[in-house]
Parts: sequence; structure tokens; C-alpha cells
Amino acid sequence: MSKAKNANDNRRDKVSPDLDTPTDMSPEAVNQISASLNILLADAFALYLKTKNFHWHVSGRHFHDYHVMLDEQSEAIFATTDQLAERVRKLGGTTIKSIGQVGKLQTIQDNNEDYVPPREMLRELMEDNKHIAAAMRKAHKLCDDHEDSGTAGLLETFIDETERRTWFLFEASRQEGSNAA
Ligand SMILES: [Fe+2]
Repeated sequence: MSKAKNANDNRRDKVSPDLDTPTDMSPEAVNQISASLNILLADAFALYLKTKNFHWHVSGRHFHDYHVMLDEQSEAIFATTDQLAERVRKLGGTTIKSIGQVGKLQTIQDNNEDYVPPREMLRELMEDNKHIAAAMRKAHKLCDDHEDSGTAGLLETFIDETERRTWFLFEASRQEGSNAA
């Protein structure tokens, strides 16, 4: 096997030649940014489902407001998934194929409790969104290091949206706390 063939084999992590999207970015940059985006994608799916879970199971006197807010947030989170996955493909990486892969890659914790008090739901989602914003900032730094302004621009929008969710969850949970008996 020639050196050129070896170099070609190592060009991208686990990418079929048929899926090797042309790019001027280095294989190292594609591998690192793809790995980072795939973790963000897994967390987006996990947070989407947790937010829906709480939308479905929230209870109490603020039911309507929380039910609606969590539905809006879940839709906004779900809308990021296609963009994250397609960004990986634009770079020449491969992305998530199954719920099983989501479970392996996600860094936020599932919540399968039978009952979660409403304020705890909001606080838990607030912490998850803070965690994801921090991870997005790290991914953005990686993009800057590799001059990947396409991914960086996408992440800037998503960071702002994530911080908006954190703000809403913070204010809604604070009101619940101050009104609690
Ligand atoms: Fe619904």
C-alpha cells in the first residue's frame, strides 16, 4: 500500500468515500468539529425529549403557562437538530444514526422519575440549557481555532437561543418559588 493510499485512508474518521464531502478544511479540523457537533446534537435530542417529557407531565396551578412554554422550547430545540446534523455533513463528517447513538453521546442526564415538582422541572431544564450553552461556547472556540466561520455562526445563534431558554426558565421558576406557600 502506498503512502498516498494510507494518507487517504486516514483522511476522515469512519467516513465512507461516498460520503466524503469536499472541503478545504483539514481532516483534523473535520474530525474534531464533527465530534463536537455530534455531542451537541445528542444533547439537543436528549433535551428535546426531556422538555417534551416535562411538557406532558407538568402539573399544578401554573400548568397552562408551563405547558405552553415547554412546548415552545422543545420545538426550538428540535429545530436545531437538523441544522447541527447537516453542518457535520457539510464539513464531510458523519452524524447520528439512531436513538442508541444519542444515548451513548449525550452529556445531559435523562429524568425518568414518575413525578417531578414543577419548579424542579424548570430548574433542571435551566441547568441543562446552561450546560449546553457552555458546551456550545467550547465548540465555538474550536471552530475559531480552525477558521470554521460557518459552524461558528450557526453556534452563535444557538447560544443566544439557549440563553433565552435559560432566562425564561430562571424567571418562571423564580416566580413559582416566591409564590410557593
Ligand atoms: Fe403538546
